[in-house]
Order: sequence, then C-alpha cells, then structure tokens
Amino acid sequence: MSSMQLSPSISSSSSAIFGQKSFNSRTFRASIALKRSGVCKCVATPEQTAYTTKVARNENLAKLQAGYLFPEIARRRGAHLLKYPDAQVISLGIGDTTEPIPDVITSAMAERARALSTLEGYSGYGAEQGENKLRAAIASTFYKGLGIEETDVFVSDGAKCDITRLQILFGSNVTMAVQDPSYPAYVDSSVIMGQTGQFQKDVEKFGNIEYMRCNPENRFFPDLSSTAKTDIIFFCSPNNPTGATATREQLTQLVQFAKRNGSIIVYDSAYAMYISDDSPRSIFEIPGAKEVAIETSSFSKYAGFTGVRLGWTAVPKELLYSGGFPVAKDFNRIFCTCFNGASNICQAGGLACLSPEGLSAMQDVIGFYKENTQIIVDTFNSLGFKVYGGKNAPYVWVHFPGRSSWDVFAEILEKTHVVTTPGSGFGPGGEGFIRVSAFGHRENVLEACRRFKQLYK
Ligand SMILES: Cc1ncc(COP(=O)(O)O)c(C=O)c1O
Repeated sequence: MSSMQLSPSISSSSSAIFGQKSFNSRTFRASIALKRSGVCKCVATPEQTAYTTKVARNENLAKLQAGYLFPEIARRRGAHLLKYPDAQVISLGIGDTTEPIPDVITSAMAERARALSTLEGYSGYGAEQGENKLRAAIASTFYKGLGIEETDVFVSDGAKCDITRLQILFGSNVTMAVQDPSYPAYVDSSVIMGQTGQFQKDVEKFGNIEYMRCNPENRFFPDLSSTAKTDIIFFCSPNNPTGATATREQLTQLVQFAKRNGSIIVYDSAYAMYISDDSPRSIFEIPGAKEVAIETSSFSKYAGFTGVRLGWTAVPKELLYSGGFPVAKDFNRIFCTCFNGASNICQAGGLACLSPEGLSAMQDVIGFYKENTQIIVDTFNSLGFKVYGGKNAPYVWVHFPGRSSWDVFAEILEKTHVVTTPGSGFGPGGEGFIRVSAFGHRENVLEACRRFKQLYK
C-alpha cells in the first residue's frame, strides 16, 4: 500500500493553511515539514513579507476557518508519519477511488486524445453544456422514462464544481438547509457565497443554515415537521457520510415539503449506482420533483473518474423561479460564463462509460467496492459495534456512543495506522461516529480490518 494516498484533499489543504486568521511561522514550518516527508503536496507557500496589498480579505472566506475536515486529516496523517516513518499507513479516510479505470473506458479516451493530433480529429472549444451525444446518453441511461431530456443535462467537470456553480446561480440572498451530517461542500460553498452567519463554536454550526439532523433515531431522514422553511435544500442520497438512502416514501415527503414551501431541492446522487435495493436512484422518480428539484451527479465513484473529472447536473425546464423565469436558462448563463465545457477527452470516456460494455465494467468496479464495504461492515458488526450505511453506499458509519469522533479517529490512527474520517467533520450531527471508506485495494481493506479486530477485540 502506498502511503501517499492523501493528496486529493490537498488543493483545499492549502486554503486551510492560508485560511488562518494570521499567517504564522508555525504553520509555515508545518507545511514545510509535510512537504519534506513527501506526504503533502502544497501549492505555493507565501513568503513572509512586510508588503501588503490594499485588498481586504473576503470576509466570507475568513468565516471558514473552523470548518476544514480533510486538510486536518491530512495534517494529522502527516504528523503521524513523522512520528512513525516506517508505519504502513492505510487510508480509508478521504473517499478517493483506488481501482484502475476499466480498459474499455480508457481506450476511448486514448483514441480521442490521439485523434486530436490529426486534422480530421482535432476539436477546440466545445459546447459549454457538453457534447449532445453524451447529454443524450446521460438522459437515457439515468433518467429513462422520467421526462429529463438531453437539453436538461449540463455536462461538467464534476459534481463538486457544479455545487459551487449552483451556489453562484442562487446568489448570496438565499437561505439553505442541509442534512447534518453531510458532504462538506454544501455548507462551505454556502459560507463562501455569503449566505450564512459566523461559525458558532458552542453549537458547531454556521448561523443562518438549517441543519437537518439525520441520525439512527430518525432513520437518517430529517424530521420535516420541525425543519424551517428555506429557499434551497441540499439533499444527498445515498448519503455521504452516513451511507443512508432515502426511501421512495421519504423522498415523496421531501418533494411535498419543498413544494409547500416553494423551495428548490439540490439532490446529489453521486452514489446512486451503489443502490442495490428499490430505493429511488434519482429524485425525478418522485412525481412532481421536476418542478422543485435539480440533480447533480458524477462519474467519479462509478468509473474511478475522481482524477479524470466528469459529472453532470440536470435542471428540468419545469423548474421556475417565483417570477416564472426558467432556472435552467440562468444555469445555462452561469455555465457559459464560468465554464468552458468538460474536456473532450473526458467526455469520450463518459460516452464509453455509458456503452453496454462500459456500464457492465462500471458495475464490476462498484461491485468490488461493495464487497469491500461488506468486509468492513462484518468486521465492525463482529466487534459488537452499531454500524450504519454500507448497503447502498461505499461508506460505513460506525457508532462510538459517548466518545468524541476526533478521539476515536486519533485512537485508530495511533494504534492501527489506519486513517478514517471523524464523523463530526461532516457536521455536529456526526459526533460520536467515524466514517470508514470502502475505497481501497482489497489487501489493504483486509489488513485494516485485521488491525481493527486487534484493537477492539
Ligand atoms: C456526495 C458527494 N457529492 C459530490 C462529490 C464530488 O464529486 P466530483 O468528484 O464529481 O466532484 C463527492 C465526492 O466525494 C461526494 O461525496
């Protein structure tokens, strides 16, 4: 196992380093130490200088300092490696894919790349919204019979990027609700847009965000009767980090709730292909959803495209603002202004993903990670832990009642050299849990589970 599997979060790690109120030499030394250890790829580190510009820091970014999760994990992992340089560290933390992209998909990308060296095959800027063939293939593969058409689909460089573009679309004057715990990009992008108040340390929440608590008591579905009305509702199913999947009945309640309140749901279905029961794979399976929802998704966790970068967002033409203007028209404007289209090579890969051979190859990759998930679930079950998720998602949500997530994270790292993710990093509702990711080579997952058994037997 390579001990270098942490870099995906590092782009934001640099912002964590720079995100401190005042840049100090301790942070500087820490970043250098991490660099020397070969663990952390930092982008440019500023030299201390007496000169400052006259530009004030964006005060919304300054609010973020409390909220960085993966950079903090990277920092702790770096410190651990300095302490135990020979440790065989296994990362089941960040949630990055590890298995090779199936050949049928990379061959298509290679072919497109080679064609770019020919007069006939060369192409420059493409349509910002993506190639029609791919938009049509996404519509017919993921939304067949649901009334989502090729023109409703915007092909992108990934769901995370679309989440931020959606925030630009909504602007700073909207209110938003989020599952607690949830994927950190929703809250952080909301803070950056200026939709929130300051971070409130006592409750570990940002002001002006409605945190919808999701825990075992409510089967990880929020109590909508006590949820405040907001303009936007971010909802992810299967959920990262809990692995919980909303049922058809629950999503029907959510759509009705949004309709009553006049809200827009941003539905993140980045793990939908991991669903193996009859839970909906798209919000658009729910009657009426096209009038209240946008769906964002990704090839990242299906085809190992975390580095390739390809995703999409479906904005139905039925979705209208209060004044009757179509949301899709504005999203198109945002797309054309902020984005110049996904890489043509990646789009060739996306098309190959959706061919019969590609779909079957993606199912194999997903099946492999699902076997990993089962190994992790069985391990924690055998040790007497309460375990959630893991059925329809590559994440296992393990309960350590009464304990701090960061303490458990530290205990596991110190005693087993395995990196997990502390649940509280996904919101206050994650306190007392850790997330174990099933993205890993089989031998590493087996070895990590052997170490968990030794620690908690
Ligand atoms: C719920 C969720 N949405 C979106 C993303 C990001 O997807 P992408 O790689 O397409 O940006 C992730 C990545 O972990 C995720 O967990």
